[in-house]
Amino acid sequence: MAIAFDVRAGDPARAATPLLVVALPAEPAFPRALAALDRRYGGALSRAVRRKDFQGGKDESLLLFAPGAGPERVLLVGAGTADPVKGLTRAATLAGRKAAGLGVGRLAFWAADLVGEALEGVVVGLSLGGWEFKELHSPVPAAKRKKALTAATVYVPNVRAARSALAAGVAVAEGQNITRRLAMLPGNICTPEYLARAARDIGRRHRLAVKVFGRREMTRMKMFSFLAVAQATTQDPKLIVLEYRGGRRGEAPVALVGKGLCFDSGGISIKPAASMEMMKFDMSGAAGVLGAMEAIARLKLRINVVGLIGSTTNMLGGEAMKPGDVVRASNGKTIEIQNTDAEGRLVLADVLHYARRYKPQAVVDAATLTGAVVVALGSTTVGVMGNDQAVIDEVLAAGRRGGEVGWQLPLFEEYKELIKSDVADMRNIGGRGAGTITAALFLAEFAEGMPWVHLDVAGTAYSETDMVVMPKGPTGTPVRTFVEFVRGRAR
Ligand code: BES
Ligand code: MN
Ligand code: ZN
Repeated sequence: MAIAFDVRAGDPARAATPLLVVALPAEPAFPRALAALDRRYGGALSRAVRRKDFQGGKDESLLLFAPGAGPERVLLVGAGTADPVKGLTRAATLAGRKAAGLGVGRLAFWAADLVGEALEGVVVGLSLGGWEFKELHSPVPAAKRKKALTAATVYVPNVRAARSALAAGVAVAEGQNITRRLAMLPGNICTPEYLARAARDIGRRHRLAVKVFGRREMTRMKMFSFLAVAQATTQDPKLIVLEYRGGRRGEAPVALVGKGLCFDSGGISIKPAASMEMMKFDMSGAAGVLGAMEAIARLKLRINVVGLIGSTTNMLGGEAMKPGDVVRASNGKTIEIQNTDAEGRLVLADVLHYARRYKPQAVVDAATLTGAVVVALGSTTVGVMGNDQAVIDEVLAAGRRGGEVGWQLPLFEEYKELIKSDVADMRNIGGRGAGTITAALFLAEFAEGMPWVHLDVAGTAYSETDMVVMPKGPTGTPVRTFVEFVRGRAR
């Protein structure tokens, strides 16, 4: 459930809350604004700072209790030094996580002079930190149940001035948490049909036009690359289109494109059994498009945006595509399928070509496309490639602003040799090396003539370990990159 936020001015010493979070920068001087609170805690807060039990560093925290009225607990969290907005966002995320762990249900948050981007960051952080995925566990008996974090009061210098940053933070966080939930849901629940319903739900709530095409319509559109992947699944594949019209009529939209493989078994080129369950996350790009559309609509950005999702599952069966098969994509190009596990690019080929009809000002796609990107960049950096350096730089900057750092890999001509086929215009795999690049070069064939950037989020969409502020599971990447990019282009 989303957190209900309110903002308040004044002294948090009197807040009747089970938990007051106090975020302090590195090596803080104890703030004078908290003198009354400190007295209530018998001077323990300022003492903790003076004695260096708490130094305000990144991911540092200290929990203190006090008797009597006012905040029942105070949680000091460190906001670090480098970038104040990022530091506060991270501190708030940690606080949200701790609050969810304690089961306090609600909290108050104080940091000095919370305005603008810093306030937005705190709202995002608390929402992300407080997020939990419990819907598939049996309910815990009431006596043992921990309260979810459902309410937060944020202390600000000026309540009126805080409204827009608060709304922006809620918009972004809601988008990210929609994405995380969808990416967490297993393949038997989150099907292409389910993603289509999620799109329609967003469309209904924010008045976006939503179109959903199935096998029949895609056959008519000659999307035989996408359809090859869907040959062995009984579920109807879906091409999902969401149109947000916040800009001028007739203005070229930004197109956001997502890979939506609700499960990727590898097909006939089957994947090894170990960790195959991870491949429910292969729709993270699509989930990112849905989360971004939710955030963009909530932010009421003055720009036109079209979200495009190609969704199916990659399965085996008598009908399945086989290595060696040749298919013709909707742009007329022929593809030799040498490995059925390189299916994401087959789906995106037709979706990227479909984007062309919108004459988009820019296309950004996100896909859990290659294991190779994890080898190249690990699990904290997004692989970024494209055909327009200015737009690539814009996307990289958007990712930095949103805390989803990307790094560009080159699409040099020379690599194109690697996807040549003896029997068709191209093949769907390269050689042993440069797997992330050859995958992107394949996509580039279908993005010709459009300014296009590709995000390989195979390493970053899902955290396989529990990290300090990010639990094991979906991270919400690439929502922030999408949203910051679109925000940067809005009027
Ligand atoms: N969805 C996978 C990419 C992936 C692999 C993500 C491992 C996370 C972890 C994609 O469809 C895939 O299977 N790619 C192949 C391409 C290869 C056959 C050229 C890969 O990366 O192994
Ligand atoms: Mn695959
Ligand atoms: Zn895949």
